[in-house]
Amino acid sequence: MSVEIKKVGVIGAGTMGSQIAMVCALSGYSITLQDVSEESLAKGKNILEEQMQKRVSKGRLTAETVEAAFKRIKFTSSLEALSDIDIVIEAIVEKLEIKRELFSKLDKIAPAHAILATNSSTIVSSKIADVTERPEKVCNVHFFNPALVMELVEVVRGPHTSAETAETAMEFVKSINKHPILLNKEISGFVANRILGKLMDEAVYLLENGIASYEDIDIVCKKALNHPIGPFALMDLTGIDVNYLVRMQRYQESGDERDKPSRIVQEKVEKGELGRKTGKGFYTYEAAPAKV
Ligand SMILES: NC(=O)c1ccc[n+]([C@@H]2O[C@H](COP(=O)([O-])OP(=O)(O)OC[C@H]3O[C@@H](n4cnc5c(N)ncnc54)[C@H](O)[C@@H]3O)[C@@H](O)[C@H]2O)c1
Repeated sequence: MSVEIKKVGVIGAGTMGSQIAMVCALSGYSITLQDVSEESLAKGKNILEEQMQKRVSKGRLTAETVEAAFKRIKFTSSLEALSDIDIVIEAIVEKLEIKRELFSKLDKIAPAHAILATNSSTIVSSKIADVTERPEKVCNVHFFNPALVMELVEVVRGPHTSAETAETAMEFVKSINKHPILLNKEISGFVANRILGKLMDEAVYLLENGIASYEDIDIVCKKALNHPIGPFALMDLTGIDVNYLVRMQRYQESGDERDKPSRIVQEKVEKGELGRKTGKGFYTYEAAPAKV
């Protein structure tokens, strides 16, 4: 029997989680947005208010629509508040052990019919599903940053995921006005980020070897390849720490030194220059956080 989705849980009120929650709320779902940190919840809400205000002033959304969407989002630090949801999108820190611990707790709280999905950029759901009693209801539902704007969502079916779960996840993504694609098999990094990863690696190689500046490499990607944004500006947007954690995760999985974060990325993370969110990454920004 297919699951009828009415209530959505989003875990993690950071860059991705807060926007995913708003996307769902704008499509009429009731949302419970949970985060362990009250500070993150308050920050996530403030940023959403600014982003929504901008859309209202540009005439893209009405004040009534935005107000109604906010009313549908419950901001909470209690995981128990997810006891009545039909699907959860987990968007917490990109660390496998922390995600496993969360899914194990969540499995005991969420109703038996609920789908538990992870928004992880790299971690396939089979690395998490085994801590639950419902592996057939666990999958990846991967949004892109900024989730309020980016249309594509990758739904990834692991060997444990049932066809019904994959189908329900695809239908759910369509219902929030996004374009889902289905990966029939798991692969770390999925489709978009695997392709992007190759581009980033080459851009960093050219920079580290003094071939061209990061500004010029970005210009090449925009003006010769017709990309809307260059790889360094994109790293600043997604967070240089995200790139670092993704590479560390890959290195831990493969043991291959070539998978380690690049020297430049490591230096940026050590200096706390993480991109737009800290006001400085490769480029310098007047005001953090990211404007979308
Ligand atoms: N940033 C991106 O561009 C991007 C794009 C697609 C997917 N993702 C994935 O989305 C996830 C979140 O990334 P982000 O950039 O939004 O991170 P973020 O650091 O902005 O936010 C993470 C949030 O999770 C909260 N958190 C940490 N542990 C928690 C727990 N146990 N329970 C509840 N909340 C917890 C933190 O307080 C924080 O608010 C990651 O898995 C990442 O790989 C990120």
